[in-house]
Amino acid sequence: MIMDSVIGHRGIAALAPENTLASIRKAAEQGVKWIELDVTLIGDGSAIIFHDARVNRTTDGRGHLKKQSQSTLSELDAGGWFSPEFKGEKVPTLQDALLLIMALGLSLNLELKPNRCNVTRLVEVTANTLMNIAFPEDRLLVSSFNHKALVLFRGRSKARIGCLYKSLPLNWQYKARQVQASAIHLNGSRLTEKKAESVKAGGYELYCYTVNKCEQAERLKAMGVDGVFSDNPALITD
Ligand code: G3P
Ligand code: MG
Repeated sequence: MIMDSVIGHRGIAALAPENTLASIRKAAEQGVKWIELDVTLIGDGSAIIFHDARVNRTTDGRGHLKKQSQSTLSELDAGGWFSPEFKGEKVPTLQDALLLIMALGLSLNLELKPNRCNVTRLVEVTANTLMNIAFPEDRLLVSSFNHKALVLFRGRSKARIGCLYKSLPLNWQYKARQVQASAIHLNGSRLTEKKAESVKAGGYELYCYTVNKCEQAERLKAMGVDGVFSDNPALITD
């Protein structure tokens, strides 16, 4: 199996502010081995770890990421919205997050999240950053809802790829072959036995997001799902 049976979602989003260094550290403290993080671009073209297209929900700022630079972003508090304990937490750069993950010995599912930024640039910066710091390929799986991002990434890297879908498209096998995918990532609440069977029959690993109840994880496992993304992995027992 590539990833673990439970992967920390956005770090460990139930216990620390999502997609922050605090969330990465907290996941490690909790004994989680694989985490998922989202990478996107801000206006000055630098890569950051962030989920939304706007900063409103998870920082004390307002507006689109396109309006942000490294310097404006460094003024934002990305922890206080979650709890006072995390006040002052910053939005991490991709590089800082990767270096921390390496230092903690964690493995990473990095989700390319274009958020209407330039997809080519996102892939280029991400692939270059991974290469420059020599992030270990056996501890990495790159995924995206954006197929073009995966095609571009495959052109630059041999790392494992997961095709990520809200629901499985009819031509999923063509797309998976095109990027030499190892895994398919699907919405756990929409998965049917038939879809699970066809993914497994194709020889792919199958991972489902976002699962925060043990009963749902058990149902998915019974369908052949290899692992689930959870905001709080401790709630999901094997
Ligand atoms: O990669 C699994 C999951 O993170 C996909 O959805 O919106 O949480 O990035 P989202
Ligand atoms: Mg994600």
